[in-house]
Amino acid sequence: MPGIVIVGAQWGDEGKGKLTDLLAERADVVVRFQGGNNAGHTIVRDGEEFKFHLIPSGILYPGKTCVIGNGVVIDPGVLIEELEGLRRRGIDAGGLRISANAHLIMPYHVMLDTAGEARLGKLEIGTTKRGIGPCYADKAARLGIRVQDLLDAKILRKKIMAALEPKQKMLRPFAKHPRLDLHAMTEEYLRYGHRVEPFIADTAHILWDALDTGGTVIFEGAQGTLLDLDHGTYPFVTSSNPVAGAACVGAGVGPADIDEVWGVAKAYTTRVGAGPFPTELDDELGAYIRERGGERGTTTGRERRCGWLDLVALRYAMRLNRLSALAVTKLDVLAGIDPLNVAVRYRSSEGALLDEFPYHQSVLHGAEAQYEELPGFEAEIGDCRRVADLPREARDYLDFVSEHAGVPVRLVGVGPGREQVIWMGEDARATLRAA
Ligand code: IMP
Repeated sequence: MPGIVIVGAQWGDEGKGKLTDLLAERADVVVRFQGGNNAGHTIVRDGEEFKFHLIPSGILYPGKTCVIGNGVVIDPGVLIEELEGLRRRGIDAGGLRISANAHLIMPYHVMLDTAGEARLGKLEIGTTKRGIGPCYADKAARLGIRVQDLLDAKILRKKIMAALEPKQKMLRPFAKHPRLDLHAMTEEYLRYGHRVEPFIADTAHILWDALDTGGTVIFEGAQGTLLDLDHGTYPFVTSSNPVAGAACVGAGVGPADIDEVWGVAKAYTTRVGAGPFPTELDDELGAYIRERGGERGTTTGRERRCGWLDLVALRYAMRLNRLSALAVTKLDVLAGIDPLNVAVRYRSSEGALLDEFPYHQSVLHGAEAQYEELPGFEAEIGDCRRVADLPREARDYLDFVSEHAGVPVRLVGVGPGREQVIWMGEDARATLRAA
């Protein structure tokens, strides 16, 4: 013990990588449990920039065990590129372990993702087009190809044949694509298999061993609660479960192994892709926040939609994950904006006041955010390291968030640098010590 889960409390891109990086330093194992290379984060270490989409960022700590769990969908080409990138920079990836049960993204998944979005036209989801949805669909349909299949040429070929056949019709626009040839695809994936074989393991057992002997495991979530397949703004969601409960299934541990759940939220809100966003600022201020916050996707380079902090959605995330702590990132981006609005309830198109996130999508689509106006702060806060260093208005803002979200803010991000954080209170330091 302990097991610490880190989840996104908004629509993804909350800055989970930074908290993971801080806690990973002292953890024994870091494990990813869902999503795939639709996620991405950038870590700056000694002035060098590293971008990861699949490998947990803990890999930069020598000797750390980093696990890609069974709940992740893996594009092996992308994984090998990341491994090559590490090798070129002299970083040993020997601590990486990949679940034999994780599913593989195949070329037809990527094509189906693109074709599916084109077919939806105006109704498109705005996916990352990395094949995530079609891969999870095949997993559920029991037509998936798993990491362990890479180790047996005969089985691999048979499984690819079975999976490919029903897709031929849907993939007509790609019919002549060379990567869809059964023989070529099998050969390509066997080559990937040779490369990743040394990393394949019974990862659930590795986690058992670590937790059972008192080690610390960080469960690194990707995307965010509002993008959850079951609890998010369906259908404008991803195809996995980014909520904390999924850490158990996607990594292979029991609920009793989880001791803390940290939610990460920006001091404002962003969203990439389509779907409802009640606090969106589709104006100059939104553009200003986008510019100042560098709100452009790590994976697709798309501009993020920006808006005010939404405490209705945050309370919903607190409840679904039973958050024990909140990390508020990018507070520095709000310096100079006065007043600061925070949504405390919604008003439905029929005039009803809603304190809770509505369960019906039509209500959410028509909902208008109702704001509380808080005083802003002028001073730049990038150099603050203790809560007492923050302007009073910034402290009041954090108190307001804690109170309305129903969970204590225990970490605050005040800039992009690793050291640009404020740990709040004794509790947070205890987590860090334990980790
Ligand atoms: P998919 O995960 O590629 O299927 O995309 C489904 C939705 O989730 C789209 O709106 C994407 O923009 C969004 N999404 C997926 N991954 C991320 C992420 O890491 N950050 C933010 N949004 C994401």
